[in-house]
Amino acid sequence: MKKALLLSLSLLGFLDASLAQTTKPIPPATLQYRPAYHFSPAKMWMNDPNGMVYHNGTYHLFFQHYPDGMEWGPMHWGHATSKDLVSWQEQPIALYPDSLGYIFSGSAVVDANNTAGFGKNALVAIFTHHDPKGEKAGSKTFQNQSIAYSLDEGKTWKKYAQNPVLKNPGITDFRDPKVSWYEAGKKWVMTLATKDRITFYSSPNLKDWTKLSEFGEKLGAHGGVWECPDLFPLTLEGKTHWVLLVSINPGGPNSGSATQYFVGQFDGKTFTPGSTKTQWVDYGKDDYAGVTYGNTGNRRIFQGWMSNWEYANQVPTSPWRNAMTVPRELALRKVGTSVYLTSQPVKEVSQLMQAGRVTLQNLTVSQELDLSSRLPNPGDKLQLKLSTKQLTDFALVLSNSRGEELVIGYDKKANEYYVDRSKAGNSSFSTKFPGRHAAPRYATTPAADITMLFDGTSVELFADNGLTVLTELFFPNEVLNTLKLKSSSGLVITQLDCAKPALAVK
Ligand code: FRU
Repeated sequence: MKKALLLSLSLLGFLDASLAQTTKPIPPATLQYRPAYHFSPAKMWMNDPNGMVYHNGTYHLFFQHYPDGMEWGPMHWGHATSKDLVSWQEQPIALYPDSLGYIFSGSAVVDANNTAGFGKNALVAIFTHHDPKGEKAGSKTFQNQSIAYSLDEGKTWKKYAQNPVLKNPGITDFRDPKVSWYEAGKKWVMTLATKDRITFYSSPNLKDWTKLSEFGEKLGAHGGVWECPDLFPLTLEGKTHWVLLVSINPGGPNSGSATQYFVGQFDGKTFTPGSTKTQWVDYGKDDYAGVTYGNTGNRRIFQGWMSNWEYANQVPTSPWRNAMTVPRELALRKVGTSVYLTSQPVKEVSQLMQAGRVTLQNLTVSQELDLSSRLPNPGDKLQLKLSTKQLTDFALVLSNSRGEELVIGYDKKANEYYVDRSKAGNSSFSTKFPGRHAAPRYATTPAADITMLFDGTSVELFADNGLTVLTELFFPNEVLNTLKLKSSSGLVITQLDCAKPALAVK
């Protein structure tokens, strides 16, 4: 195995898991950490979301899964379904490893025109076969693209007999196919991560693939290997732009795993970026490998893996490890001459926040405002929305009787939002975990609105209607049940809205 590859695999935690493959005992249950409205598997390991597609009124979420261990191991595709993107039912495993290898990340499409010949409206999964034996033997071609299909709403799958459909030309990292129908050219387009760049392919039938072009060898962030790309159109002021998502690990803005994006044009062959500035979908440490759902009409719905390879194998939850972010609706917005990708929780998440609503208006925070009596028991599953006409320095502090605290705020001088989890509870599992993580504010208006979603061990911050996003995990030893606002420069809050999800914890 090449030294660079060894390094990248050990950074991912792959090496320990795939070579040793020891099944460690399951740690004691930590049920207080189970999220209520974020998907997490009933048990065992989960990483990237895969094959996300809307079909016959159901959202399908497949995921990288090791059903026999709490750490990354031989990859399967787990499966969950939802009618509303917030309440998920886990289904039997969809794809198992086979003689060609583990089932790595990929996508799924509805083959409405039966281009592949598996049947009209067949669900077709396009994924990477990762051959651990080839990898161990030092081959360069151990990752290849394969397909499988389902004629019963994703319940059972048949792998195509002539897999792989796209053979590796000799690139060690050759994976994570995201396929969608390119209507203008009446063909399928595959966006594939190929080590330090993206390679586009096209196909008439999902079986025969032709290389179109490459993008990004010298553009964007390259702190680590490129993974899990996605390419899709979005409209801004009546004009179509193409957005290319590229996850990288490591090399994110707050270290470790993160997802960058480019906005540009795609002509059916080549992607040309409008700007070459590196931009991030989410500045927090815990949103990785996110891509969008297929077949959702005018909605562009994104969902990521709410973790980071720096410590995903060690986070202190049991009997499962890791959850997904909430699904988010993507859009483009202009600020000055720059075009940004915005993410906001899908409306289904806002509609869920119906329980125990408290709305406070015209609050002046001079130094410290203890809201504990007005927002009793904020608890650990809630949505907080804060609006102000004049954004200035502030810190929202959630704490408990053990002195643990999570601080979320805005630093005016640095013009950045931040989440500080340095003292938010258990971080003994990784030195890479604690810290203060910041994100630039792109909005230029004095007014601001900030939505925060809490769900046990996570906060997702969407500022300025999704122009700045920060997702962070934290593991308090007791619920953070006291809420205080601090501002040395006198923040005036027009409205603070607090509501809880009307959903039972799994
Ligand atoms: C991203 C990733 C993918 C790969 C999968 C393996 O987190 O490394 O590139 O397909 O995880 O589980």
